[in-house]
Parts: sequence; C-alpha cells; structure tokens
Amino acid sequence: PGAPYLRVTPSMLKRQTGRKGKDAWTAMGGRVYNITPYLPFHPGGEPELLRAAGRDGTKLFGEIHPWVNYENMLASCMIGLLVEEHEAKS
Ligand code: HEM
Repeated sequence: PGAPYLRVTPSMLKRQTGRKGKDAWTAMGGRVYNITPYLPFHPGGEPELLRAAGRDGTKLFGEIHPWVNYENMLASCMIGLLVEEHEAKS
C-alpha cells in the first residue's frame, strides 16, 4: 500500500500499442510493463510480442510459455499496476 506506482486503467493501456510513436505496454498478473525495450530481444519475435500490446497479455502469455519468468525478465520494465477504470486517481 502506498507504493509509488502508476495506476494504469484499461483505457490508458489501450493507447499503448507500440504504434503511432507510442510505447508498447502490456499487463501481466496485474502489473503493467513497458515492453518497448524488450521487443528486439523477444525470442518469439516482435510481431508475436506485440499481440499483447495495449491489453492484458496474461492469458496469451500463459497459453504460449507459462514457464517463462516474465517477472524477473521484465522487472526493470515494470511501470505500474493495472487498476479498474474508476480507480485511476490515487
Ligand atoms: C518465446 C519471453 C510474450 C510468443 C519466448 C521465450 C522467451 C519469451 C524467454 C523463449 C522461451 C523458450 O524457448 O522456452 C517473453 C516475455 C514476454 C513474452 C518476457 C512478455 C511480454 C509473448 C507473447 C507472445 C509470445 C505475448 C505471443 C502472443 C512467443 C513465441 C515463442 C516465444 C511464439 C516461441 C519462439 C520459438 O521458439 O520459435 N518468449 N515472451 N511471447 N514467445 Fe514470448
């Protein structure tokens, strides 16, 4: 509680598709990640990873490689917490 994380709503997330000069964000396990710097390193390629951009990628990720430890891999890319639409203001 009180952690200084950005509170990201689904509508904020939706704008971060990695297109039109915007960074690509995805949400996984309730955390929001800026995956832009990781894109060139993804073993499955950029287009695959971008399928999770702008939305909650938890299910998609789990369907493909549940064994991958994204929490460690993307620790430095974590930018906030996914919250409900009405919870934007802290
Ligand atoms: C492979 C990381 C998201 C599709 C991999 C591998 C890693 C990785 C480490 C190699 C796994 C292995 O060989 O055991 C991540 C991370 C993600 C992410 C950190 C965080 C967002 C996604 C998403 C998709 C995806 C959203 C698809 C919608 C794939 C595919 C491969 C792969 C198809 C297999 C590539 C191959 O072996 O030819 N990813 N991934 N990944 N990833 Fe991801």
